[in-house]
Amino acid sequence: MKVSERKIKLSANEFDEITLENSNGIRISFLSYGGIITRIEVPDHQGKLENIVLAYENYEDYLSNPGYLGSIIGRTAGRIKNGYFTIDGRRYNLAKNYGENSGHGGAKGFDKYVYNYEISEAENRIDVDLSRVSPHMEEGYPGELYVKVTYSLSEDDTFIIQYSGVSSEDTLFNMTNHSYFNLSGSFDESIKYHELFIDADHYSEIDESKTPTGNLIEVADTPFDFRYMREIGEEMNSEDEQLKIANGYDHAFLFRNNTGTKIRLAHRYSGRVMEIETDNQAVVVYTQNFSQGQIIQGGSTLEPYRSVALEVQKPPVGSNEVFKECSLLPSNHTQVTSTIFRFFTEDSE
Ligand code: BGC
Repeated sequence: MKVSERKIKLSANEFDEITLENSNGIRISFLSYGGIITRIEVPDHQGKLENIVLAYENYEDYLSNPGYLGSIIGRTAGRIKNGYFTIDGRRYNLAKNYGENSGHGGAKGFDKYVYNYEISEAENRIDVDLSRVSPHMEEGYPGELYVKVTYSLSEDDTFIIQYSGVSSEDTLFNMTNHSYFNLSGSFDESIKYHELFIDADHYSEIDESKTPTGNLIEVADTPFDFRYMREIGEEMNSEDEQLKIANGYDHAFLFRNNTGTKIRLAHRYSGRVMEIETDNQAVVVYTQNFSQGQIIQGGSTLEPYRSVALEVQKPPVGSNEVFKECSLLPSNHTQVTSTIFRFFTEDSE
């Protein structure tokens, strides 16, 4: 196992980029700014290492990063309808940075802060703890929250993200990582031909503002049925109203109560496979339905549907505070959740 650090100057700021590498050559890089994952390099079936997460050509773009590439998202991932919630009858108002809603932690979410970090090395694994204190009422959320996100790479080709939080008052806490994947190693290739499995019988219906309505819809006989491996694009252009609202998939899938693999993403040609296990209850699948014309690693301009964000989290808070209970963090109680990504290759017949 290897770890290296380098300084990166972005405008007037200096950040660190940390790179972890295991003996199989799997390499993961991230910034102390927003915990942004800038690179995950994994081998294809011939051993060729390529980056599988969407990244900017120019690091300066990470400062604004409107699409949240690779970022830590907090305190709450997803949209909160009308930008408010209540705890014990008290109303808390948040910034409305997604139209009439609040999204991904507000105007300055956890993706826009610098984290302290600490590296610990064991024989088969390296852990990096990224931490910060989010003050009471930051972005309108109550309680001083100590948050720690641990990135761990192991010799067995797993990458683990662990989220831990403890707050001085009852608050909302629902973090994720916003990496966009394309296992082909090229972001000039559409994501529609990747195959996907999600262990979910239901998904969360969204309204016109892409906020959960509170209705859970059965995936059976809909384009949302990924209970068996199939191409993401297979039914993406169907007449389904829910797909039309979002221009593609941008929905929370609620996992069944099974242990084991919750998500599997595979790219036949390269043979790359990524499997995800987690104790979180949901994943928001976002097929990158838009592009802000970003210049991405390699120099090309990003087109829509070139990647998929798999935002493993608790179900996002929706209309009438639906699913709020899932994100409630009681005061002085440490909560830990984790998501395990496993990388391997599989030869197609
Ligand atoms: C949201 C999308 C949004 C994107 C970029 C995703 O997590 O679900 O609706 O466009 O992030 O902000």
